[in-house]
Amino acid sequence: MGHDISKVLVTEEQITEMCDRIAQQLDSDYKDREPVIVGILTGAFIFTADLVRRMRIPVIVDFMQVASYVGTESTGELIIKKELSTDVTGRDVLVVEDIIDTGRTMELVKSELLNRGAKSVKVCAAFDKPDRRVNDFIPDYCGIVIPDEFIVGYGLDYDGKYRNIKDVRIVR
Ligand code: IMP
Ligand code: MG
Repeated sequence: MGHDISKVLVTEEQITEMCDRIAQQLDSDYKDREPVIVGILTGAFIFTADLVRRMRIPVIVDFMQVASYVGTESTGELIIKKELSTDVTGRDVLVVEDIIDTGRTMELVKSELLNRGAKSVKVCAAFDKPDRRVNDFIPDYCGIVIPDEFIVGYGLDYDGKYRNIKDVRIVR
């Protein structure tokens, strides 16, 4: 049932620091623009909540759940499992993601939201695994760069579990 998750990679203190830093940056970058914050379910639910609670500017908060399907074409396909409630046409959108791995999902989400007529789409990721990238995707805001390890906690799961761990641990 259990896995070895004894190795802490990111501490609660580091998480607090990254949230403070990014929220402050977002407050300044999105001043007077009332951004639509799009949290990507399920992994980003905690990070999204932590960020928006620290922000002082007016924001709209919404969520969507997506998956990327890699078929025969290298571009891949976006599958929307839970749709937004907000019309993003003409809006400044900030997508909040738990982790960027291959980069496929965020590349597809970004072009989907731009296709819907968003004025701008930027991506904020709590964690980034650049070693795993298959494209040239770079998040506009990034919390902590991590090595090529599978991590859980702070919203991230292994087989649906461990999302409620407060720090981030390596699964071995
Ligand atoms: P990608 O960037 O399209 O490859 O997909 C990123 C998604 O894969 C994230 O939203 C996570 O759900 C999942 N993922 C990638 N690496 C990890 C990890 O180390 N732990 C937990 N989930 C991960
Ligand atoms: Mg995910």
